[in-house]
Amino acid sequence: MTAAVAVVGAIDDLRRYVRARRAAGERIGLVPTMGALHAGHLSLVEAARRVADRVVVTIFVNPAQFGPNEDFARYPRTLAADVEKLANVAADLVFAPPVEAIYPPGFSTKVVMEGPALADLEDRFRPTHFSGVATVVTKLLNQAQADVAVFGEKDYQQLLVIKRLARDLDIATEILGARTLREADGLAMSSRNIYLSPKERERAKELHGALSEAARRILTGEDIGAATQAARARLAEVGFDVDYLEARCAETLAPVSSVDEGAIRLLAAAKLGATRLIDNIAVEFS
Ligand code: PAF
Repeated sequence: MTAAVAVVGAIDDLRRYVRARRAAGERIGLVPTMGALHAGHLSLVEAARRVADRVVVTIFVNPAQFGPNEDFARYPRTLAADVEKLANVAADLVFAPPVEAIYPPGFSTKVVMEGPALADLEDRFRPTHFSGVATVVTKLLNQAQADVAVFGEKDYQQLLVIKRLARDLDIATEILGARTLREADGLAMSSRNIYLSPKERERAKELHGALSEAARRILTGEDIGAATQAARARLAEVGFDVDYLEARCAETLAPVSSVDEGAIRLLAAAKLGATRLIDNIAVEFS
């Protein structure tokens, strides 16, 4: 039988736990999530476990990172099932604060960033998103004071934003990225995949297919602009409404036009019906 995992909602309880474990000489890993956990999240817990003695998972659907017409109200909230899944991967503590613990009355501070948060990718379509993410992640990192925090590469721009903010704000927690977990047909695991109808789910694999094809073409010497344009056209053909599909510098997200400019990441966001999917891959020989 797997041991139950403790759930706390108060910042003081989180801090007491971390202090006690650290006093016992243990390293603390943090995995921030918005719940609706799937195997991708559980792989982040496992990644944290490899570099820390204790793993704390936060579950908080952060209202500040959703735009006015986005899915905050219907975002899946599945705390009991999430806690059970976390017990199965031996997470040590779940921090699931109520909204008033994170944004108490009178809350007046926002973390607003430039650099990777203004790369003209997600920020072009979700202009307040990264300020919401940066604010809540700064708070969670301050609250937990973990040694290391793990975030998925699935949200690649977000990962660079968080690395940047930790550096800029002298947050001592080391930020680690963990690779994207995919379904058998290549679709990146995401809590939002449950919004897809069976027909859309079948077509959704094309997002990863188009990115992989563009990466392959770039690696065989095709012009980057032509390869990304062909990928956008392929997605449009199967019914995606493409927000962006672009080749960027993997470190800075600056636009790139040649493989000689260093490591390249292909990033995309596209809607299938009412569901917006994002994905990205490295342009490298596998
Ligand atoms: O990636 C997510 O699930 C969220 O954006 C995060 C980092 C937990 C902040 O709310």
